[in-house]
Amino acid sequence: MRNFDETTITTAVLERLAGARDARIKEVSEALVRHLHAFIREVRPTQKEWADGIDFLTRTGHMCDDKRQEFILLSDTLGVSMLVDAINHPMPEGATETTVLGPFFVEAAPEKPNGSDISGPMKGDPMLVTGSVSAADGRPLAGAVVDVWHSDDDGYYDVQRLEQIGDLAMRARFRTGADGRFHFWSIKPAAYPIPNDGPVGEMLAAQGRHPWRPAHVHFMISAPGFEQLVTHIFVAGDKYLDSDVVFGVKDSLIRDFERRPPGRAPDGRMMETAYFYLDYDFGLKQVASSTHPA
Ligand code: BEZ
Ligand code: FE
Repeated sequence: MRNFDETTITTAVLERLAGARDARIKEVSEALVRHLHAFIREVRPTQKEWADGIDFLTRTGHMCDDKRQEFILLSDTLGVSMLVDAINHPMPEGATETTVLGPFFVEAAPEKPNGSDISGPMKGDPMLVTGSVSAADGRPLAGAVVDVWHSDDDGYYDVQRLEQIGDLAMRARFRTGADGRFHFWSIKPAAYPIPNDGPVGEMLAAQGRHPWRPAHVHFMISAPGFEQLVTHIFVAGDKYLDSDVVFGVKDSLIRDFERRPPGRAPDGRMMETAYFYLDYDFGLKQVASSTHPA
């Protein structure tokens, strides 16, 4: 077959996929070709525009290394990460909603005892976080692993300033007690712009968009027999809640970080200064085909 033109090329490419070895690869490849060709037919790029598009993707790839993942940022800012999340995480009543993981999770965060202050050398308004982890039916889950991480009050994560601060901070791993509860102290996080010194930043500027995320604390919670929960809790009142650059905000994840006067805090600690207090009850979804006892 030859002499393809605008009307025949799509069918020709689709026919070429007939021998794909795996049904899923065939299905995904066909959809890719159909949608990509439809995009080109709609946009009708000039040769220069198409070369610029390839250059954008090339620079996006070159920006990626073990510390920076510009393709995930692209997926996040085009709403694709949250679309994939929505498709994969329909949540039953009682289970906490999910949101994006983001690039600042660290696999080997230090495990700390409940009640630890994880702010390290960072200065800011003290924040107490207390919470519970339960099955969606309300049964408390003892021994659940709770990873937390958040930005400082300038909007930076520890990993963005490791040379200055010397060690990980504002992140740790806790385990729930027999009552399914955990708690820790840190500093209240601020809103921040996502890394915007690369191709994704250029794209946002060209699209007339700001790069900001509303202030939040990240949680990743795991317990045997339950789906891992990846979510954040957002600070109520933040001015970016309705325009999060990565489309990650859900009403059920917004909470008052209540300002409390000096005095005895809910965990018994005596505070000489005012502090902020967040309490959140997390619900986990049971794995459908779990072999673990309920
Ligand atoms: C974050 O919340 O850490 C984040 C999420 C998506 C893109 C950039 C940052
Ligand atoms: Fe974040």
